[in-house]
Amino acid sequence: MIVNGKAYRTVWMEDDTVYMINQLRLPHTFEIVALPDHRATAVAIRDMWVRGAGAIGAAAGYAMAQVALEAPRGVGFAAYVQQGAATIRATRPTAQDLFYAVSRVLAAIEGAPDAESARQAAVRTAQMLADENAAAGEAIGRYGAVLMHDGCRVLTHCNAGWLAFVDWGSALAPIYAAHREGKRVFVYVDETRPRSQGAKLTAWELANEGVPHTIIADNAAGFFMQRGEVDLCIVGSDRIAANGDIANKIGTFEKAVVAHEMGIPFYVAAPTSTIDPACPSGESIPIEERSQEEVLYAEGLLDDGQSGRVRIAPAGSAARNPAFDVTPARYITAIITERGIFKPGDILQALD
Ligand code: MRU
Repeated sequence: MIVNGKAYRTVWMEDDTVYMINQLRLPHTFEIVALPDHRATAVAIRDMWVRGAGAIGAAAGYAMAQVALEAPRGVGFAAYVQQGAATIRATRPTAQDLFYAVSRVLAAIEGAPDAESARQAAVRTAQMLADENAAAGEAIGRYGAVLMHDGCRVLTHCNAGWLAFVDWGSALAPIYAAHREGKRVFVYVDETRPRSQGAKLTAWELANEGVPHTIIADNAAGFFMQRGEVDLCIVGSDRIAANGDIANKIGTFEKAVVAHEMGIPFYVAAPTSTIDPACPSGESIPIEERSQEEVLYAEGLLDDGQSGRVRIAPAGSAARNPAFDVTPARYITAIITERGIFKPGDILQALD
């Protein structure tokens, strides 16, 4: 991705420090933060400085590399590594990429003959995970671009672009690829309350890439689909169950149901690292429930140019805030992965 004329990844590691774009400050301020140890990186994942399944997967992999680099030599190495893995796994519950990354780096550490080799293997594996993540996004873009005709009007929910990965993204990758091929693509961006990843992040990415788009209130998606103004929907996923059910940002399910009703193709784009073969169906996907404050308040730039938040709801009203929902496989036209396009019921074939 290019920001202000410079190539960036969403998250990367130099020596023992993890760097990332601070997504809490976008779209108004572009800031890189440096995280000196695995605890700081875990807090950044938990508090959503970095968010999006692929990006938190890469950050989790790097955090595991930090664990290995920090761990005491000799006695205590293995216990420190296990404790670090537990800390990172406890940050956010839904995105399978996070657990996938922790397990991959842990396996590399445990397969090494001594602590020094384990450190090197951890750093190498974390870097490999990040590179695979970027390459998967590019391949998803290539496969998905074929589904977009010139003049295509696409609806997307949340942010599954380069900010949600190391580069490229999942749902937005085909849009970028089609746009770069010269196809005219127009994107309806669901604002994605309560955290507004669509309005804040997807709109910022699309503007940066020069892709024409408009932000719509979450409740307006059905309106545009019913009026025939959406040719296809494409969303990302945080976890894909073995039967092809998917978890994605809250609000995805209802978009899929409306798309199904209106005969509009509904695509899910995700790398194979998002597939959880141990999860038989969407019912077993753990769904994160976040603070009610995110619903009761809105955050953004105030008229005086300072960041701030305003309370929307009456004092005393409570709120519920599930962060994800499950879209059953029957509403999904196909799942686009870096290994090709699969019917949801065949998704395990992507792991063969
Ligand atoms: O809560 P977030 O912002 O980490 O949510 C994850 C997501 O960005 C979405 O659910 C996205 O559509 C899939 S992740 C690429």
